[in-house]
Amino acid sequence: MSSSLPEQEGRRRGLFRTKTVEESIRDTEEPEHALKKSLSALDLTVFGVGVIIGTGIFVLTGKIAKETAGPAVALSFIAAGVVCALAALCYAEFASTVPVAGSAYTFSYASLGEFPAWIIGWDLVLELALACAVVSVGWSGYIRSLLDSAGVQLPAGLSGTHEGQFGFDLLACILVLVLTAILVAGMKLSSRVTAVVVGVKVTVVLIVIAVGAFFINGSNYEPFVPESVPSEGGSGWQAPLVQLMFGFTPASFGVMGIFAAAAVVFFAFIGFDIVATAAEEARNPQRDVPRGILGSLIICTILYVAVSIVVTGMQKYSRLSTDAPLADAFKDIGHPFWAGLISFGAAVGLTSVSMILLLGQSRVFFAMSRDGLLPRVFSTVHPRFGTPYRSTIALGAVVAVVAGFTSIDVLAELVNIGTLFAFVVVAVGVIILRRTRPDLPRTFRTPLVPLVPILSVMASVWLMINLTAETWLRFAIWMAVGLAFYFVYGRSHSRMGRRG
Ligand code: ALA
Repeated sequence: MSSSLPEQEGRRRGLFRTKTVEESIRDTEEPEHALKKSLSALDLTVFGVGVIIGTGIFVLTGKIAKETAGPAVALSFIAAGVVCALAALCYAEFASTVPVAGSAYTFSYASLGEFPAWIIGWDLVLELALACAVVSVGWSGYIRSLLDSAGVQLPAGLSGTHEGQFGFDLLACILVLVLTAILVAGMKLSSRVTAVVVGVKVTVVLIVIAVGAFFINGSNYEPFVPESVPSEGGSGWQAPLVQLMFGFTPASFGVMGIFAAAAVVFFAFIGFDIVATAAEEARNPQRDVPRGILGSLIICTILYVAVSIVVTGMQKYSRLSTDAPLADAFKDIGHPFWAGLISFGAAVGLTSVSMILLLGQSRVFFAMSRDGLLPRVFSTVHPRFGTPYRSTIALGAVVAVVAGFTSIDVLAELVNIGTLFAFVVVAVGVIILRRTRPDLPRTFRTPLVPLVPILSVMASVWLMINLTAETWLRFAIWMAVGLAFYFVYGRSHSRMGRRG
């Protein structure tokens, strides 16, 4: 302990009272509120890949290549990957220093103080809950397409919302409820299921790359960066904030298009940060969490770039499908067998993504409740399964309803802005914690501090301002609701506030 008692007392007062790293770790050791420690580095990497590869590559690649970036979507993936790599270097240091549940939320509590931690926790609940809903809706689309091929059709009213026509998404809702039950039954079971599912998903992605490579037609890459064109209806609220800020006419394609696309395909990378949320359940978090985070991120970046190059080479970008682009590119060249196999693998793969997002979100909620910022009833673990069953069930129910009633597009952007905001807080936190607690053991150290964290902040903010003004507004509303909740409830119920 480097600081004196009066200094620590001082730190505990007010909005910026911090929970020390030792206190965070001690809280995880209270038997009633402790999670089982059973995950290895490999489990964590599988976990990472399990959640990272999903709707982003299976669905958004086609839509974004067609509408925003052309074949240059491969460059967008690289840009988004670089932003994530910078953030991953910061996440890894934090995760190896503060190995308790809650991800960026816990890290912020130990470094920036309670109020910023609340903001980030609230933000993470938005990210994870909506991302889970988005992926479940995507999953439901693939299942319906497989059912269609088998001649079975659900009534339109139960098939989700299409082109402004409202419909309840029954399959998405059922998926979330089933996954909730699996998570309540225990981590071990869910990580085994995840391992099989991840195997299927990665195999399908490799098939797209290996088989698709034989059908590349070089002329499809011309032009690689299509010329910038004014975007249809892309004025005002629907334009990227950066274009409005600098007075550009809202446009698609061109160099600006590559970055606007990067801000959306960024969704494809979401998940590596969730490995950090499972830190408390890792056998050796100091060593394994950084390996899990960086390992899964590197694997996915390579796969994404390869898939986008192959798919835009197989089919002209302007003709790509927006629902199932990877499968439809094979249909287009007359190979329905491969198309069916890819659809099946995508549906299986999206299951694991949904499940891990649900897991991550229940763990953040759990950590916030354990700290008293949300009602404490949510942080009791199940006596037999050792899982935070109340937070899992409560959130699972909410996500099931959201998944049933919402469509994908808008939500994906909202998820991205929330995640990028968390990246900013984590990067700032690395710098602060190095100064306030230089004594803490760090098995993984972010290189070149403060340069790398500063670059991470700049890169994340750049992607954020490439999102639409509408998304910024929605994000501001969600955060305002969070502030109100903190001042009405969290602040007075916080365990840190009571201890102090
Ligand atoms: N990265 C995840 C996906 O693309 C969330 O579905």
